[in-house]
Amino acid sequence: QPMVGLVGWRGMVGSVLMDRMQAEGDFGLIEPVFFSTSNAGGKAPAMAKNESKLKDAFDIEALKKCDIVITAQGGDYTTEVFPKLRAAGWNGHWIDAASTLRMKDDAVIILDPVNMPVIKNALAKGGRNWIGGNCTVSCMLMGVGALYKAGLVEWMTSMTYQAASGGGAQHMRELLTQFGTLNAEVRSLLDDPKSAILEIDRKVLARQQSMTGEETTNFGVPLGGSLIPWIDKDLGGGVSREEWKAGAETNKILGQGEGFGSKAVPVDGFCVRVGAMRCHSQALTFKLKKDVPVADLEALIAADNPWVKVVPNTREATLQGLTPVAVTGTLEIPVGRIRKLAMGPEYVGAFTIGDQLLWGAAEPLRRMLRILLD
Ligand code: HSE
Repeated sequence: QPMVGLVGWRGMVGSVLMDRMQAEGDFGLIEPVFFSTSNAGGKAPAMAKNESKLKDAFDIEALKKCDIVITAQGGDYTTEVFPKLRAAGWNGHWIDAASTLRMKDDAVIILDPVNMPVIKNALAKGGRNWIGGNCTVSCMLMGVGALYKAGLVEWMTSMTYQAASGGGAQHMRELLTQFGTLNAEVRSLLDDPKSAILEIDRKVLARQQSMTGEETTNFGVPLGGSLIPWIDKDLGGGVSREEWKAGAETNKILGQGEGFGSKAVPVDGFCVRVGAMRCHSQALTFKLKKDVPVADLEALIAADNPWVKVVPNTREATLQGLTPVAVTGTLEIPVGRIRKLAMGPEYVGAFTIGDQLLWGAAEPLRRMLRILLD
């Protein structure tokens, strides 16, 4: 069985990855070797077979013995270890959740239900670097990739509603702590049905505005009861790195644009952090190349892959099926609110949601492992 090194398996993305690998029986097909950045020599988890101790994740010689390395350890680890491992002559497959290597020419952004031909083509040419995409982009393409594959999209804007988990585990804790703090601030007033709502509102605002230091370490400002219309670094020119990724990664996943000898489809919009836990949602606007009936668009989308689900554009169906609460913990990618917009027959709106830890992070990695094992 191929030796597969697992790095960063204990973190949030890594834990979701381990759960999915167990659920799908992946460990039955590999000889897993568990690495640790902090606890080398410790006991490996129950899925371990012959190697029951944790290896040092910075030990290049130990990593070199692996046929495949899967890492969810994060970008700093990739930056430090990947070049050394390749420089040491390692020729194995590197499967990575971090963004560090994503836009490199010799790396493929993996999302096989959308870009299997791109993956197969790179494999045939000796590709060895397989990188998971940005969560928002991956979830969006799992939902509406069919419209791109059909060549229907002239441009698209995405307005996102991104969950706290995109920042990391500490961000989720911070959000919940803030919610608790705000609730505690007005609990007695809430308990009294006759209390004045504007007094409650004033107290909440005062508490939000007084949040400092430890209360906002991760987000910088309160997110509970608010939102933050900037995600990731400031790239200059008024564009956030998360917004830049939408266009750059969508086109790279689809194997079009710069480097592929074809035209990129413009994809742009605003990325906003909201107080959701782990589902990224996005409102999409398409300018299609031609007028296509909504029913045809729905049929195209629904037939694209086994996980996408068209939600009828009614109030009832939307409330039931098109919320982060309905989607979290599932591999389903609902696409709803599909309708023609007032701007004209080529303008179509849609709303889609995905669990950013599943299709947005862990699932494409384990599926790439399966492709390599085939
Ligand atoms: N950058 C994403 C976010 C998460 O902050 O929501 C990972 O792709």
